Amino acid sequence: MNDDFDEPTAPHENLGPELTDDEEALLMEMPALTDDVGQTRRTFVGRTVAGSLGLFALNLLDLEKALAGLKPSPDVVFAADPVAENLVKVVLKVNGATKTLEIDSRVVLLDALRERLKLTGSKKGCDQGQCGACTVLVDGRRVLSCLTLAASVDGKEVTTIEGLAKVGHLHPMQAAFIKYDAFQCGYCTPGQICSAVGLLGEARRGEVSHVTEDVTVRTTRLTDDQIRERMSGNICRCGAYPGIVAAIQEVHSGKRTEHTWRFVEEQQLARVRREDANEAV
Ligand code: FES
Ligand code: FES
Repeated sequence: MNDDFDEPTAPHENLGPELTDDEEALLMEMPALTDDVGQTRRTFVGRTVAGSLGLFALNLLDLEKALAGLKPSPDVVFAADPVAENLVKVVLKVNGATKTLEIDSRVVLLDALRERLKLTGSKKGCDQGQCGACTVLVDGRRVLSCLTLAASVDGKEVTTIEGLAKVGHLHPMQAAFIKYDAFQCGYCTPGQICSAVGLLGEARRGEVSHVTEDVTVRTTRLTDDQIRERMSGNICRCGAYPGIVAAIQEVHSGKRTEHTWRFVEEQQLARVRREDANEAV
């Protein structure tokens, strides 16, 4: 196992490689990749992938600046919603910054993150613990934030997808997801990546799973089947599972493989467009 990458309790220390040319080109290419599909999809895909993979915030500097006014400064106390009941004060360390909230005791962590702290990377899919889109790390362990009361994690460290990347560096798991094309729409991706980072910690600690063949033998090495089983709580409606397993296996094993895909070239695009135009007449 690659011990450099498997410590989920301190994800900021697990810096990934500098952005490669391909990774930087991904955002630049996004419009070209979706030109034939339309503006709405282009905008949706661009924003979703940017939310999923924190590095893209760097490339969207202007957007970041525009949003800066919406972001709370560290340590600020978030006053209670005027219509809230059963108020409780909750102090969380979110992505390294202390946040103090006054919230209704029934507010779940996912809503506290998204609606109060404006950290919208964690997604609400089913809102009932079945899809994994809301997965975040609490004290390094993965939890479903839609089923976790915010008050129950008072005083704990919460890491969301926004906290994995650091300036100029992806978390290795984020880099691997890009490398293996492990997402399509990107909606499940924040949860998949947080879950995968949590999985690495479980493997490192030798925790068994449903498919562990012999629970009396301590092993930290996961097979693809074991990764599949441990990630079975994270649903991907786009079916990006092969890429997800490959990405996790690479980070887990530390064995690097070459890119298996490449960007389409302008000449190829032009040829396809010419062929489409000829078919249309
Ligand atoms: S939104 Fe939490 S599991 Fe689906
Ligand atoms: S990438 Fe679309 S739901 Fe997983």
